[in-house]
Amino acid sequence: MDARAKTGVSIRSATKRYGAVTALDDVSLDIAPGEFVSLLGPSGSGKTTLLGILGGFVQPSSGSVWVGERDITFAPPHKREIGIVFQNYALFPHMSVGENVAFSLRARREPKSTWAKRVADALAMVELKGYEDRGIHQLSGGQKQRVALARAIVFQPQLILMDEPLSALDKQLRETMQIELRRLHRQLGATIVNVTHDQREALTMSDRVAVLKDGRLVQIDTPERLYDRPCDAFVASFIGEATMLDVTRAGDDAVRLGDTILRTAHPLPRGEKLLLAVQTEKLVIDGDAGHANVNRLSCRVTEVLYQGESLRVFAALPDGTAISLRQPGSHEARKRIPAPGASMTVALDPQDTIVVSA
Ligand SMILES: Nc1ncnc2c1ncn2[C@@H]1O[C@H](COP(=O)(O)OP(=O)(O)O)[C@@H](O)[C@H]1O
Ligand SMILES: [Mg+2]
Repeated sequence: MDARAKTGVSIRSATKRYGAVTALDDVSLDIAPGEFVSLLGPSGSGKTTLLGILGGFVQPSSGSVWVGERDITFAPPHKREIGIVFQNYALFPHMSVGENVAFSLRARREPKSTWAKRVADALAMVELKGYEDRGIHQLSGGQKQRVALARAIVFQPQLILMDEPLSALDKQLRETMQIELRRLHRQLGATIVNVTHDQREALTMSDRVAVLKDGRLVQIDTPERLYDRPCDAFVASFIGEATMLDVTRAGDDAVRLGDTILRTAHPLPRGEKLLLAVQTEKLVIDGDAGHANVNRLSCRVTEVLYQGESLRVFAALPDGTAISLRQPGSHEARKRIPAPGASMTVALDPQDTIVVSA
């Protein structure tokens, strides 16, 4: 038996219907042991339903769930050895921090003599060492979420499921927690499945991201692959900050945008209706002017928005089509931005020339 067969999780052709609504539509997914996978998609795309099928709270209408060689499709949640973290913490307000964390051990009938040390270890992991006797109401939002995490990891589950665990936190704390969750994942070695609607969070934390739309799994890939090689227009527009432009095929490795031919380093998708997905940071003002291989677009600056760490520049192609790009906020980079009304040339590397079918 290899490692995957021991602790990997597989979902095979899982479908979930609620009356006329298909919440999940024939989804298959193999998650390797120790992998951090995020389920990413807009509201209503089936993320929570898929997580529920993994956790045993939702029974699929058809399909199965496997942990290694074991079919757990109909196993109740408490028989699955899964740690769970929800968005709203679901802590017991009348219990202390320590009692909340120990609850997982009590529920699993672990020997009481082991509780104190295991609770202390779990709290140390989430950087709340010594918080055992605090009341839940004395904690900040971020601390509550860490207690919920400690409760999920205290019994050392192989699999941890998280449903939008950071979405109640403010931006700065969310970003700190993303980094901490990654660290914790490395430390624990557990498999983590995390639900989020925040593409940046998914890219930051995950080994692989599964993109869901209307109950279907659209693409599962590493963050880099997902960002650089989106499989369709939905993924391309959902990830990053892409402008989608109508283009037509111009040979095997090029497309036509207005009067301009753009070469791509990637195979073109099938079909005649194509879209160019241009991420804002991939367009370079006057970039590599002497470099023969880059694509160039002439345009006119229409607006420049100062956004602190970067600036967003809006521009119009000769036929009026709007594009936008990002420049870093450094003075050096800002000097390159022409004033509104002025024309400029922007470069796009063929590697960054991403074409998807419309
Ligand atoms: N218990 C339920 N009864 C009826 N419809 C449901 C139920 N749970 C989810 N749905 C529907 O299934 C779809 C997917 O929901 P969900 O998995 O919660 O999506 P997400 O977590 O991505 O927002 C939605 O259309 C939702 O309204
Ligand atoms: Mg949900």
